[in-house]
Amino acid sequence: MNNGAQAAVVPATAAKTTRAREEQELNAAPARRKVFVKAFGCQMNVYDGERMIDVLRARGFEPAGSPEEADLVILNTCHIREKAAEKVYSELGRLRVLREKLSRDAGRQVRIAVAGCVAQAEGEAMLARAPVIDFIFGPQSIQKLPSLIDRLDAGERHMVETDFPPEDKFAKLEEQSATPPAVPPSAFLAVQEGCDKFCTFCVVPYTRGAEYSRPAADILREAELLLDKGAKEITLLGQNVNAWHGEGLDGRTWNLARLLQEMAQRLEGLHGLRFTTSHPNDMDDDLIAAFGNNDRLMPYLHLPVQAGSDKVLKAMNRKHTAADYLRIIDKLRMVREDIAISGDFIVGFPGETEEDFQATLDLVEQVQYAHAYSFRYSPRPGTPAAEREEQVPEEEKAERLARLQALLGQQQQAFNRRFLGRRFPLLLTGEGRHAGQLVGRSPWLQAVHVPGDGHAIGDIVQVEVVEVGRNALGAHIVS
Ligand code: SAH
Ligand code: SF4
Ligand code: F3S
Repeated sequence: MNNGAQAAVVPATAAKTTRAREEQELNAAPARRKVFVKAFGCQMNVYDGERMIDVLRARGFEPAGSPEEADLVILNTCHIREKAAEKVYSELGRLRVLREKLSRDAGRQVRIAVAGCVAQAEGEAMLARAPVIDFIFGPQSIQKLPSLIDRLDAGERHMVETDFPPEDKFAKLEEQSATPPAVPPSAFLAVQEGCDKFCTFCVVPYTRGAEYSRPAADILREAELLLDKGAKEITLLGQNVNAWHGEGLDGRTWNLARLLQEMAQRLEGLHGLRFTTSHPNDMDDDLIAAFGNNDRLMPYLHLPVQAGSDKVLKAMNRKHTAADYLRIIDKLRMVREDIAISGDFIVGFPGETEEDFQATLDLVEQVQYAHAYSFRYSPRPGTPAAEREEQVPEEEKAERLARLQALLGQQQQAFNRRFLGRRFPLLLTGEGRHAGQLVGRSPWLQAVHVPGDGHAIGDIVQVEVVEVGRNALGAHIVS
């Protein structure tokens, strides 16, 4: 042995010890776990899912591309109709198989959580039907995720968090979140949550709780963050978004029109503003006027009416008539003649006769919708309408729905047809189905496909429509 070798031994040993220590530390430090959130519901449900990821990001998680890659899978469920609610159980069946497979083949333990409106409505009862669930939390308990993860890591299972805590969920979430590196060009921002309207068919007041409006300062702060991270267009969300009446920057209560106006004035780089979903009873004159005087506000309004018969509207507890709704539409068209009107319809509400249904078709004829969603009435547990005796047979609902959808489809096509040759600015929000193709939404919310021509997602381009279909427009970039 020579000195050199001898000398070399010492540092080598030292190096080995350091490396061993580092490896030990690395093993001790929790590896970044991955979470996959699957959204089943409305835009608010999607927004909540993103907040869950933000909270978990602050706890060392990162988003997974699929359930297979994830250490934690969260099913963010929807309770609005039976079909939506039942989907969660088939998904849980699939996850049970995946969990067994990964545990057997890779020695990996996937955790499964159920969130969202089914979690809120069914809570504890879900565990009996699907013991595979590790924990359950409702839409008002997202801020409890860090403590739920701690309890899970400590070996606890089957926790259920479905209380409506008195704290400001949004403020708490802001505190707990790590901001994502980037957000999509068209981003969601929840400004209002919950509902006090209690339409007799609807579960939302029970799953989301009472109406709550976030303060304007919090909303503006979140909007600035979204713009910093790449958003160009923001859609304000709320189950009853136009009922928003939050604390303004001046300490007074503002309405939604004022909030939209302040956002348009204060937020640099904001290309477009939208809001959804609105209720006819909260469609005040300021908000109608905003479509004429707020140049960032896009000419599109989703304003569900549900039915055209006053008898049915009354039984639904909508507290407006068909004529009230039509008056609002007229006023909107007076301030913004080209506004795209969208709606929601329920057919086969208990007691709906053929004559009542005809009144829905008449209303649709008068409005001329650009787009609409329509559903068969689905009796929901705990709602007054579900208890009514005059339930409409399923075949009748199906037959009415087909007639309504045929009419709405024609109107959508007619609305789109008017756009052939039209030019407008388009925010590119995603990739199309064909190679090189990009897609965006027109100011009227139509899907628009364009050849990419070297442009990128997030660019705003001037386009000319060259093709119109029922569900989308085809366009070329002109500048
Ligand atoms: N807050 C919004 C939308 C809530 S849910 C509003 O008041 O308009 C979205 C849509 O689902 C509703 O507009 C309604 O058309 C539909 N919906 C709600 N409950 C339903 C039920 N029990 N059966 C069928 N459709 C329902
Ligand atoms: Fe449901 Fe009616 Fe409230 Fe809309 S307004 S969320 S339909 S109860
Ligand atoms: Fe569904 Fe809840 Fe939204 S019931 S529609 S996820 S508010």
